[in-house]
Amino acid sequence: MAERIRLGVNIDHVATIRNARGGLHPDPFRAAEIVSRAGGDGLTIHLREDRRHIRDEDLQRIRDATQLPINLEMAATDEMLDIALRFKPETAMFVPEKREERTTEGGLDVARGHNHLAPYVRQLKENGSKVSLFIEPDPVQLMAAHQIGASVTEFHTGRFVELCHAEEGALAGEELERIQMCAEKAVDLGIEPQAGHGLTYDTVTPIAQIPELTELNIGHFIIGEAVFVGLEAAIREMRRLMDEARA
Ligand code: PXP
Repeated sequence: MAERIRLGVNIDHVATIRNARGGLHPDPFRAAEIVSRAGGDGLTIHLREDRRHIRDEDLQRIRDATQLPINLEMAATDEMLDIALRFKPETAMFVPEKREERTTEGGLDVARGHNHLAPYVRQLKENGSKVSLFIEPDPVQLMAAHQIGASVTEFHTGRFVELCHAEEGALAGEELERIQMCAEKAVDLGIEPQAGHGLTYDTVTPIAQIPELTELNIGHFIIGEAVFVGLEAAIREMRRLMDEARA
């Protein structure tokens, strides 16, 4: 078991609040500095087609704010590929993207999208980025991610969190087992397993206890909690819960 599970903090929603007024505040640059200071291990940012979160000009500013590795979430489009090839994130993560969705609603269908995704994965890897695919905890998708050469798979924890919040304990337990099983299988395949989406203080512990997982990417809850306690305190509490889960 990796002793420490990394925390990647998704700071998109700092930009969402900024964009609501069209000005400069609050600035994701400042959030990136705080993530570093508070013990975050990486930054996740999603450059969406509609630019509702971070914008193109934020990329370099966030890079300049910190030494932390950057996980750039993106749709598999030529526009995003060009941007990622120039920006060279430590990790380029493909996610499905629909304009009408509130957030990334499900994992990528790598099995069906193989021919479309394969050249993107290859070019980004040749350019020096790790390539991550955001998928459901589904062995079929995991095998497809392996065949396409993914370095990392992030398993979607959204369904697990929803089931926990609906107090559907038995179903949540089954979903947790699926995530655990896929994390084990990913390691066997030489893929680094990560997880994220929708995680909260209440739901992070069982996920962080899956020994194979190397990193969790958490955003909305931390930024929401920051409204009440401050960003640094919200990150530190999430970090504490993750460390406690691994202790
Ligand atoms: N991982 C991926 C691939 C995501 O798309 C998101 C949301 O942007 C997250 C993790 C973080 O999810 P949340 O904001 O719900 O914590």
